[in-house]
Amino acid sequence: MSKSKLTVYLAAPRGFCAGVDRAIQIVERALERYGAPVYVRHEIVHNRHVVEALEKKGAVFVEELDEIPGKFPVVFSAHGVPKSVPEDAERRELMYLDATCPLVSKVHREAEGHYATGQHIILIGHAGHPEVIGTIGQLPEGAVSLVETAEDAEKIEVKDPRNLAFITQTTLSIDDTIGIIAVLKRRFPDIHGPRKEDICYATTNRQQAVKAIAEKCDLMLVIGAPNSSNSRRLVEVARVAGCPEAHLVQKAAEIDWSWFDGVKTVGITAGASAPEILVQEVIGALRDRYDIDTDEVSVTTETTHFKLPRALTA
Ligand code: F3S
Repeated sequence: MSKSKLTVYLAAPRGFCAGVDRAIQIVERALERYGAPVYVRHEIVHNRHVVEALEKKGAVFVEELDEIPGKFPVVFSAHGVPKSVPEDAERRELMYLDATCPLVSKVHREAEGHYATGQHIILIGHAGHPEVIGTIGQLPEGAVSLVETAEDAEKIEVKDPRNLAFITQTTLSIDDTIGIIAVLKRRFPDIHGPRKEDICYATTNRQQAVKAIAEKCDLMLVIGAPNSSNSRRLVEVARVAGCPEAHLVQKAAEIDWSWFDGVKTVGITAGASAPEILVQEVIGALRDRYDIDTDEVSVTTETTHFKLPRALTA
């Protein structure tokens, strides 16, 4: 029986960003340089495939430094860590490498700058996400208030509205964040902040690429982990942009083929922590069942690249 036809739109850019690429390279280089085991505090990036591949090479993942049974090197994840973590590593005399994405570190420096000039800081982000914990942890307790939604922004009370600044998580929905910032600016006209927000280039580009294909897709598959903030935002963006049938899958095996009933066009993208091999695996699974035509729709070309820490290159 001949296979039915399916048009596949591949969003571009998709998948790995420069911060994720750098974080993975830091663990790999550390393993080469120091030998196994190298400990990694928290999933280096939010992707099981990446974590398992590094485990096979000798990386050991822990949530806290007290789980490290000796003086082994430790890498901090791309999401960033509170200041207390490197301090704790020093107390324990552990050699550490910081794989915090430079674009997250930039937000940390912004927060410190606002604090140094006596401003209270509103962080727009998701409670409990490691990046948010790391950013809040750059400053003493009480210096930063978290706002998750426009409703939170409507309700938040501040002591001195003339000494106020906002910063944002790097992996938010651009459109939702614009709405939250508008509420803050209406309520606190003197609030300081970045020119737009702190959402990174990779999050921005992946969301724009999804918007470019959403309307022509009957179904959107976002490849990424359930704890990956930017991947979850891609599902939401696809739905709002005209493809209500959008699903997050970690790999081809998670596809529910009943989603494809009546589907003629499918969009595919991947979060910033999902490797291209998982995208190709999904395309392969589609090819096994359908006669597919693929069309890559690119909204921009990315050239961002971050240097490795000097300890690994010297
Ligand atoms: Fe960095 Fe953005 Fe990637 S903050 S880790 S470049 S998703």
